[in-house]
Amino acid sequence: MLKFKLLILGIVVWTLSIGPLKNLVRADNLGERTVKSVCTTCHRIEGNPISRKNKKAPDLIWAGNKYQPQWLEEWLQNPKQRLYPVGYDFHPKRKLPHLALPADTATAVVKYLALMKDPRIQEGIMKPGTSEQIQKGKKLYQEHACTNCHWTPANTRRGYTGGKSSTSFLEMGTRLKADWVYRFNLNPNDFVPESGAYIPKPPLPDSDIHAITVYMMTFG
Ligand code: HEC
Ligand code: HEC
Repeated sequence: MLKFKLLILGIVVWTLSIGPLKNLVRADNLGERTVKSVCTTCHRIEGNPISRKNKKAPDLIWAGNKYQPQWLEEWLQNPKQRLYPVGYDFHPKRKLPHLALPADTATAVVKYLALMKDPRIQEGIMKPGTSEQIQKGKKLYQEHACTNCHWTPANTRRGYTGGKSSTSFLEMGTRLKADWVYRFNLNPNDFVPESGAYIPKPPLPDSDIHAITVYMMTFG
């Protein structure tokens, strides 16, 4: 019996280290190594939510719930699209372009980040909305002046309108996952303390948050 177990163990070790699966293991490692040695010099991948003013870059703690993998893979290779139009930490010296990754590293990083899930986010609850829900969401979005801090697609010469102090919402529909956006909108302070200043008091009913989210997912 012991001999049999040792044999199985031997086969597993061989397959993973020198056998046919070794490239797979290396690729996984590449993602983890890159994130831990490069990305964490600016981004946090664990810990409790803290306010933007104490960070160099947005948190990746819940990256697996937040970003659509295809967008992430493309953006990491070609991060031209500015997500924070005035720079993330308002520090003039740090308005440099984001580092770009070669394709194989980007693929490995996206795979590794996909494992970063936050149990507070329920997956599969958001469905594309009906046109009434989208209209209702649009009205609420305007009433609560979300545009004041977030670039929002519009029929203007530039193609958008709004304040630039926070995240750009251009391409929202292909950038972020709807379930994450919905959960963020329910209580922004759960993710970025002090970002919930706009939340009406008392808080909007969940059905209104749902409508706003459905509308936002039509951007881009
Ligand atoms: C020198 C600091 C720095 C390093 C290193 C860095 N980033 Fe960033 N990252 C930033 C800043 C600043 C932003 C905001 C960019 C913007 O405004 O467009 C950002 C934005 C992002 C975003 C979008 C965040 C969001 O929620 O809008 C992702 C995803 C991301 N980085 C992933 C990575 C990955 C993966 C790595 C490692 C390969 C990495 N970053 C390395 C500073 C950094
Ligand atoms: C007073 C400015 C302000 C207003 C108005 C505002 N927000 Fe924000 N929003 C923020 C801040 C601050 C953040 C956190 C990101 C950051 O650090 O800039 C944020 C982040 C977000 C994010 C996460 C974006 C990402 O890529 O991480 C969503 C979603 C969001 N807001 C939705 C809304 C909605 C919906 C409204 C209108 C009901 C709204 N916001 C109005 C300041 C604002």
